[in-house]
Amino acid sequence: MPKLKVPAPPIPEPLKPRPRRPGAPKQKPLDAAADAGAHVVDWVDERTSLSGGLRWMMFRKVPKGTNWFYTLGSATMFAFLSQAVTGVFLAMYYRPDAAGGAYESVRHINDDVFLGEFVHGMHKWGSSVMVILVFLHMARTFFFGAYKYPRELNWVIGVALLILTMAMSFTGYLLPFDQRSYWATIVGVNINGTGPLVGPYLSDFLRGGAEFGATTLSRFYAIHMMLIPGAIGALIGAHLYLVAKLGTTAPPWLKAETAEELREERA
Ligand code: HEM
Repeated sequence: MPKLKVPAPPIPEPLKPRPRRPGAPKQKPLDAAADAGAHVVDWVDERTSLSGGLRWMMFRKVPKGTNWFYTLGSATMFAFLSQAVTGVFLAMYYRPDAAGGAYESVRHINDDVFLGEFVHGMHKWGSSVMVILVFLHMARTFFFGAYKYPRELNWVIGVALLILTMAMSFTGYLLPFDQRSYWATIVGVNINGTGPLVGPYLSDFLRGGAEFGATTLSRFYAIHMMLIPGAIGALIGAHLYLVAKLGTTAPPWLKAETAEELREERA
């Protein structure tokens, strides 16, 4: 069967280069400066053809009835990006030192560093925001039936993203290394240990041995700031690729148009 070639989505009007009108004066230096951005983009595009991919990803038709609930995925992504940015600034001052250095570095961030308490607060409250949003987004995709064929794989990737988001909260909770985070994490690691078959191995892995101590803190820190964010970033990439490829699901209360109606519309 011959493969149907779908034409690339059109370039939106404001992004199209405007030809010079006949008789119009040549560009003045100031106009050329105003166009510099577009020229740089053109220069890169001529050498990479990246705009085709961007247009494929960004400019597409969405189903009738698309509503605010469809923004929950992007809101979750924004919460993740905010966590990544504030996390980088916190990492500039944080020390994963179980002998008191970790607690002291968080105190220093909160009390001495310029905007430290604000950035720390954004990261702390932002983690709850991300967890709430990811659940709301999952509920939206569930109630709209977006997990059905052909989007099952995107649901599975979503499940991995949900688990990783929870793992971010769990590993981050230990980092301030105060009484609350210390004891809460011991409880959490013990709960993991009660899981069937893999439980005891998992809790040994999380502790970094049989005892809860200095290695546990550096291990949680490495998992929290490198391993999981990398995995979440990669999985969001795959998730969005599939959203762009398959399109989003129309709300279930909209009836699909029959072939007859489509023919009438075209005529
Ligand atoms: C870090 C977590 C996540 C991010 C950043 C994310 C992001 C997104 C975005 C931006 C979209 C397209 C817009 C929309 O429909 O909202 C989307 C769609 C989708 N997501 Fe997620 N998502 C995440 C977690 C999840 C989870 C936990 C599930 C389910 C277990 C899930 C399942 C889906 C499905 C099935 C679609 C397709 C929706 C449709 O076709 O209408 N996602 N996601």
